[in-house]
Amino acid sequence: MTAMPWQAVVLTLFPGMFPGPLAFALAGKALAAGHWALSAMDIRTYADDRYGAVDDAPFGGGPGMVMRPDVVDAAVSDAVGRFPGLPLVYLTPRGRRLEQADVRELAGGAGMILLCGHYEGVDERIVDAWRPREVSVGDFVLSGGEPAAFVLLDACLRLRPGVVGEAGSLLDESFENGLLEYPHYTRPRLWAGRDVPEILLSGHHRRIAEWRLAEAERITRERRPDLWQRYVHTRRPTVAASKAQPHDNEGGWR
Ligand code: ADE
Repeated sequence: MTAMPWQAVVLTLFPGMFPGPLAFALAGKALAAGHWALSAMDIRTYADDRYGAVDDAPFGGGPGMVMRPDVVDAAVSDAVGRFPGLPLVYLTPRGRRLEQADVRELAGGAGMILLCGHYEGVDERIVDAWRPREVSVGDFVLSGGEPAAFVLLDACLRLRPGVVGEAGSLLDESFENGLLEYPHYTRPRLWAGRDVPEILLSGHHRRIAEWRLAEAERITRERRPDLWQRYVHTRRPTVAASKAQPHDNEGGWR
C-alpha cells in the first residue's frame, strides 16, 4: 500500500478492548492489509499521582465518578500532537445522534481521535477546552464509550476504499438514498412453503429496480415516518413523487 492508511486513534481506559470486533471480517482484513491503522492509547498512563487515579467524585455530590480533566487533557494533548489535524470525537449519549451523513463525512477524512468516557463521563471543562465533536450512537446509555467507538469505526471503515468488495452494494443499502433497504432473497427458491417474489425471477432489470424502490419506500413509510418525511420532501425521484401517499405512519414497527 502506498496511500496513507486511515488513522483511528482511541483514547480509552481499556486499550485491551481494541481492535476487538474490528479484528474480524471486513474491518479486520482491511486492518491487516494496511488500509487503516489503529492506535489505542491508555488514558491511565497519563495519570500522574501515585495511585494512577483517573476519576474522582463529582463536585456538588451525587452518584458516580467523573474523569479528571488534567488526566484526560494530557491524553488528548498527546494524541493531538502525535496525530495532528484529525478531528477529535467524544462518544457520549449527550452527543448528536449519529447518522449516515456524519459517517460519510468522517470516513472521507484522514481518520479520527476517539475519546471514550466511563463512569459519568469526562469533566465538562475538557469539552469546553477541546470542543470535540460529541457523538451518540443512539438514545440509550452504554457503560462506556468503547462499544460506541466500535460502532462508529465500523460504520466509517466500511466506506473506505478497499474495505467492502463490491462498491455497488454500498450505494444500494439503507440510508444511502434516504430509505431503508428493500427485502433480499436467495436460494432455495422454495423454503418452508414460502416462495420468493415472482418479479425477482423475471430477469427484467428495470422492473426489478422499480419493485425494489417501491418496497424500500413502503418499508420506510411504515416503519420510519421521520425518514419518510425527509425523503418525500427532499430526495424522492420526481416520477415516484406523483404517486406519493398521504397516509404516512400506518403500522409502525412490526
Ligand atoms: N457512551 C455511553 N452511552 C453512549 C451512547 N449512547 N453513545 C455514545 N457514547 C456513549
